[in-house]
Amino acid sequence: MLILSELQVYPLIITSLWLMLPAYFPNPFAVVVGGGTPIDFGKNFIDGKRILGDGKTWRGLFGGGACGILIGLLQIYLAQQVANLISLEELPSFPIVVLFTLSFGALIGDIIMSFVKRRLGLKRGAPLPIIDQLDFVFGAFALTYVFAPNWFISNFTFWIIITILIVTPVLHRITNIIGYILKLKEVPW
Ligand code: CTP
Ligand code: MG
Repeated sequence: MLILSELQVYPLIITSLWLMLPAYFPNPFAVVVGGGTPIDFGKNFIDGKRILGDGKTWRGLFGGGACGILIGLLQIYLAQQVANLISLEELPSFPIVVLFTLSFGALIGDIIMSFVKRRLGLKRGAPLPIIDQLDFVFGAFALTYVFAPNWFISNFTFWIIITILIVTPVLHRITNIIGYILKLKEVPW
C-alpha cells in the first residue's frame, strides 16, 4: 500500500504549482486585459452560431500569453532564491520554449473548449463544470508535450500530474470567486 507521506506531499504540491504558474496566469490575466476585437472577428460557424464568441479576444490572447511568459522568466530568474526560502533543494527550471507552450497552451485549451461550447449551443459565460476548470491544463500539457517532449516527461511525472489535476480546480474556484467579487467577471465560475 502506498503511504501518502512517502510521496512527500509538500514538495509535490509546491513543484506542481511552480510548474503550472506560467499556465495559471494567462487566462485570469486575459480577463483583466481582454476586450476589443474577438478572435473569430464576430463570424459564425457553419452551424450559424458564433465560432468562439465575444469572450475570446486577441487582446486577451496576447496579453494573457505575455503575462504567462513574464511570470516564467521571473521564475527562471528567482528559482534558487524561492527554493531556499521554502526549504526545498531546488525547483524545476524552464526552457524558453516551455514558457510559450505553457502560457499559450493554456489559452488555446480555453479557446478550443469555447469552440466546443458554442457547438453545444452554450452561450458565452455558460458554465461547464470540470471542463471549465481543466481545459487550460490539458492545453498546456498538450502543447508542451509536442514542443518539449523530453522536458515534459522528466518534469510532469505521474504524481505531479495527479496533484495538478486535484489542486487546479480548487485554485480555479478561488480565483474566479475573487474575480467575481472584484467585478472582473460577470459570473463566479
Ligand atoms: N478573455 C479574453 N480573451 C481570451 C480569454 C478571455 O478577452 N482569450 C476575457 C473575456 O472578456 C471573457 C473573460 O475574459 O469574457 C472571461 O473568460 P472566460 O471565462 O474564458 O470566457 P467566457 O466569457 O466564459 O466565454 P466562453 O463561454 O466562450 O468561455
Ligand atoms: Mg467562462
